[in-house]
Amino acid sequence: MTPDQVRSTYDEAYARRYDAAFLHTPQYGFREKTRIELFLLRMLTMQADSWLDVACGTGFFLRHGRGHPDITCAGLDLSPAMLAMAREANPGTLFVEGDFLAPRPEFEGRFALTTCMWGAYGLQESVAHVERLVERLTQWTRPGGTVFLPVFDPARFVSLQAEGRLMPEVTLRSPDGTRWSFLEPDGKLHEDVLAPPLEVMRAMFEPAFDSVELSPYPDSPGIPMAALTARGRRERTR
Ligand SMILES: C[S@@+](CC[C@H](N)C(=O)[O-])C[C@H]1O[C@@H](n2cnc3c(N)ncnc32)[C@H](O)[C@@H]1O
Repeated sequence: MTPDQVRSTYDEAYARRYDAAFLHTPQYGFREKTRIELFLLRMLTMQADSWLDVACGTGFFLRHGRGHPDITCAGLDLSPAMLAMAREANPGTLFVEGDFLAPRPEFEGRFALTTCMWGAYGLQESVAHVERLVERLTQWTRPGGTVFLPVFDPARFVSLQAEGRLMPEVTLRSPDGTRWSFLEPDGKLHEDVLAPPLEVMRAMFEPAFDSVELSPYPDSPGIPMAALTARGRRERTR
């Protein structure tokens, strides 16, 4: 999606229904996924003093994922409508409107934890843009810090389809599951969501981190995902 497509997709009506439709609904295991992610985020933020959530959306995870109350939090997103919800839910938190592909010198080396939740990385126009996002997440994480990025699992999209369990809103656009589309009930189409293979995602982080762990989420008929946690950002990243 181009930045204009992102802003027009994530408009006021979408922002208002977003949490109910994607975070709280039991359909397709989405509520269970949210619970798992809140648990992981609370663990990751328990010892951290600062957290940047990139593509923070309505700010739900920043509000509910804090492992201790004194952590300094910040959110970045392109959509003014999503940010308006995030500000309302997180008084006192810094929110910045902008494109996560753009450089942001004031964020460099600043955050103990940097996250990007619910597949925002897949809304890019090309894999080169996904790589640039990973570069930004790395730059904005302080040396020794952690990036947490739940990633799509394209191989499991293919097996869900073979078993006839793929959610009807999803259509695979490539036989290996690395491109797919999502049709919203209101007719909006996320046309070409990118899901590079898990090992490709791991390789994007490996040069800059001491370890990269990939843990598949439990099986569900929804969107198959794995938790990617890159720990120990190296002092020099290239
Ligand atoms: C599926 S929502 C995820 C929101 C939030 N991370 C969550 O888990 O609830 C995708 C979000 O990514 C944001 N987004 C997409 N492309 C972006 C970009 N290039 N820069 C900043 N935000 C972007 C959208 O505005 C939207 O809020």
